[in-house]
Amino acid sequence: MAASLRRRLLLVLVPVVLVALVVTIAVVALGGPGPADEAPPAAATGPAVPEVDTNGIRYAERLVVYNGRSHYGDEQVFRDFEAATGVEIELRGGTGPELFERLQREGTDTPADVLVTTDLANLWRAEEAGLLQGVTSATLRAQVPEQLHEPDGHWWALSTRLRIPVVSTERVPAGAVDSYEDLADPQFRGRTCLRTSSNEYNQSFVADMIAKRGPEQTEALLRSWMANEPEILGSDGEMLAVMAAGECDLGLSNHYYLGRALAENPDFPVAPAWPDQNGAGAHANVSGVGVVTGSDAVPTAVALMEWLTSPPAQAQIVARSEFAANPQVPPSEHIRDWANVKIDPIAVQEAGPLLDDAIAMMLSVGWN
Ligand SMILES: [Fe+2]
Repeated sequence: MAASLRRRLLLVLVPVVLVALVVTIAVVALGGPGPADEAPPAAATGPAVPEVDTNGIRYAERLVVYNGRSHYGDEQVFRDFEAATGVEIELRGGTGPELFERLQREGTDTPADVLVTTDLANLWRAEEAGLLQGVTSATLRAQVPEQLHEPDGHWWALSTRLRIPVVSTERVPAGAVDSYEDLADPQFRGRTCLRTSSNEYNQSFVADMIAKRGPEQTEALLRSWMANEPEILGSDGEMLAVMAAGECDLGLSNHYYLGRALAENPDFPVAPAWPDQNGAGAHANVSGVGVVTGSDAVPTAVALMEWLTSPPAQAQIVARSEFAANPQVPPSEHIRDWANVKIDPIAVQEAGPLLDDAIAMMLSVGWN
């Protein structure tokens, strides 16, 4: 849009908005137009999410991105944005919890404009602490399905990832495991392994289960898992290595760690055991991006988010075995079959508030 046209529009729109604002304030001050028991029409949905139009914007010189995906090897997408726009992107890496601490400590002085992080737990904690500001745009809505962004635009998914049972192909027959319940099967006593309960992936998994099955059923399931005396490990990657070395036969891992191992070695002796395919499906979590509260470069930040969720960037982001948030982008060739797996999307609104309950429950059943 030409600058002069935009100025003319502003000249027309600003007085209209001001008059509307004055009338609204007067109506509110006078107690509203109708009877007192009439429900206020907009209160239930809260204030409108700021709509950002990035067409023809003047880019900020620089964006600081706190990047919780720094260990996933997809920095090139940021370099491509720099090349296309001239915006300098400064990436500062860290784990989800480290970046959360940093943002909280820095408060309104933070240099960060954008937070990229993994897992609903990290996204929810950032939103809950007021570290993210809601934004929306027509492009973001076109590229990210409704169930993959926070309703008020505090974060938008970049990828989805399934947390699934994984089995040794050498010691577990195909088809022997087809549910999360099977981690409690007595035939696997002393042969299962889990990552620590301090890991967000497990915390979100349990919080989602509490949201969907209720606390009693979830606790009973976790107790049954613990009865198999799982070996507790520090990472999903370590779990796969331990399984390949013959020390564990059944674990619970994010699917892309296995996808990467299989991309490197098609004979890697661990296979996915897709859970609950006749029921709810495989637990699906997200990684995502949001604009940091206090950023003075919101339109440029939104332009970056639009780029990150566009098909060419998404293809790069999921090259290492994640699934794209943008449904136009298929999985990488080596896991293309996995696209047909029935998934159970994490309850974006319900699971976050249950994270503390999930952690307490995991510790109470002895999952350390
Ligand atoms: Fe991960």
